[in-house]
Amino acid sequence: MWKHCKIIYRNVPGSQLWIGRKLTVGRTLNQQVRSGHKEQELLESTNLFTNNDYIFSHTQLQIGDTSTPRKDEKWQQARPYGEIPGPSSLRMLSFFMPGGALRNTNLIQMNRRMREMYGDIYCIPGMMGKPNVVFTYNPEDFELTYRNEGVWPIRIGLESLSYYRKTHRPDIFKGVGGLVSDQGQEWADIRNKVNPVLLKVQSVRQNLPQIDEISKEFIDKLETQRNPETHTLSTDFHNQLKMWAFESISLVALNTRMGLLTDNPDPSADRLAKHMGDFFNYSFQYDVQPSIWTFYKTAGFRKFLKTYDDITEITSNYIETAMERFGNDEDRKTKCVLEQLLELNKKVAVTMVMDMLMAGIDTTSSACLTILYHLARNPSKQENLRRELLRIMPSPKDSLTDVNTKNMPYLRACIKEGLRITSITPGNFRITPKDLVLSGYQVPRGTGVLMGVLELSNSDNYFAQSSDFIPERWLKTDLAPDILACPAARTRNPFVYLPFGFGPRSCIGKRIAELEIETLLARLLRNYKVSWLPETPMEYESTIVLSPCGDIRFKLEPVGDSM
Ligand code: HEM
Repeated sequence: MWKHCKIIYRNVPGSQLWIGRKLTVGRTLNQQVRSGHKEQELLESTNLFTNNDYIFSHTQLQIGDTSTPRKDEKWQQARPYGEIPGPSSLRMLSFFMPGGALRNTNLIQMNRRMREMYGDIYCIPGMMGKPNVVFTYNPEDFELTYRNEGVWPIRIGLESLSYYRKTHRPDIFKGVGGLVSDQGQEWADIRNKVNPVLLKVQSVRQNLPQIDEISKEFIDKLETQRNPETHTLSTDFHNQLKMWAFESISLVALNTRMGLLTDNPDPSADRLAKHMGDFFNYSFQYDVQPSIWTFYKTAGFRKFLKTYDDITEITSNYIETAMERFGNDEDRKTKCVLEQLLELNKKVAVTMVMDMLMAGIDTTSSACLTILYHLARNPSKQENLRRELLRIMPSPKDSLTDVNTKNMPYLRACIKEGLRITSITPGNFRITPKDLVLSGYQVPRGTGVLMGVLELSNSDNYFAQSSDFIPERWLKTDLAPDILACPAARTRNPFVYLPFGFGPRSCIGKRIAELEIETLLARLLRNYKVSWLPETPMEYESTIVLSPCGDIRFKLEPVGDSM
């Protein structure tokens, strides 16, 4: 169904099957449908040449859906695509100009402003080689989109990363773009290989003792930064959490301790940590905001390429060192994640490790901070949680094990509830490979669909008292006379709560993230009574993921062996 090809598209007027890095044509044809331009004029405005039947272009991806355009009754009765509310390209550009409605906004603000202006479904025109995107806030649309995403769901977004790996450094990556940026058969080949390694419970949970060790080291470090009288921290807590997240994901992905929680981290690790911190910023700059890099490599873009070169070199060195270690230690009974990945395919292992490092730092640290914040603002829920944790770890020195972590239902409910109120990935994205009717409008295949999940998981329509932190809504049974399960306080519709996405393309790091977050929060809340000091709520900036910012101050009062 998918292929890379030079001849990529049968020239059927009105079809829009273009995706991939060079989206010029897709955008153009897509706009044609909305604006009624003549196809010939549009072709003349691109760098393409045609014969009677085909448009030629550089290597691109094709959705080879050969089915005839949809003609059923539901489709015929739906309102035309061109009637979906939304700005023209020019108007959209003006929103980003000085004084424009979207100037200096983050992703959430952008969504909210657009929703206020255009309603619960709107379409923004693709610019700078990107496809048109329909934004929807209707869970029925989410379900339809996911149910029709096919076996190789398409989530474009990190085109700059793909460019780096496939065009700039084919010498290293040899055609492998990686999970986050590959599509179609290429994506499936990697995903099918790595699923059993990264989603298998035992494969991930074998890391628990070391992940717990890292969380103990994190607490030891906090102790050196905590004022014993005011119980406040002298350092940037968010930054410390990023170091914890990096140390943890490096352990899983590289089987290496980086020493980032010590005073003497490995200098390369320090550099890598800094680069990884820039990852989502670069992505937002080059993949979300309008940017001309696909046509002209700006100085900023060239700097980005150099940063990736450094990331590639450092990570490859760590992998080589780990491989030597594995070779010298034949007696090990179990194989770590990196070893399992290397056995699959070295190219895949190298890109997967980098993707794990890139995707596994800001996400888990932001999620942890967010959940901690909600617990700090809800002392009675925090006490409930601590009772559970004290049963598991009567002494702060007790370790977390496979057995005792099986019995943490309240902690897991708190994590779910924190991610409901503040899902750190505010929207999910797919290119639809089929013609869909969304909210009564025709949406042709090839169009981007952005599902605004965060808005719905914060709506009273789906969660009673949606702004309140109520972990009990996720409990299956009562835990104590004063901790009663309250499943009625949440909708049964699974599509309004998707912090890790949905379907075959959902987050591959989910199990790793859960392991890390559970372990750290268990230890933090076992050891400290946590309060939020600022008068104002936690603020967020958002690039690709939401990231806490502004005044972040907690009070951490030590808890003894009982409450
Ligand atoms: C709380 C932490 C995390 C959250 C909330 C999160 C969320 C997400 C979401 C929403 C997606 C898109 C899913 C979709 O399109 O359906 C995703 C994809 C992905 N995540 Fe995570 N993530 C987290 C942690 C991690 C970690 C620790 C890793 C590292 C192993 C990771 C690696 C990835 C990768 C590689 C993808 C792309 C998967 C693919 O396209 O096949 N994530 N994540």
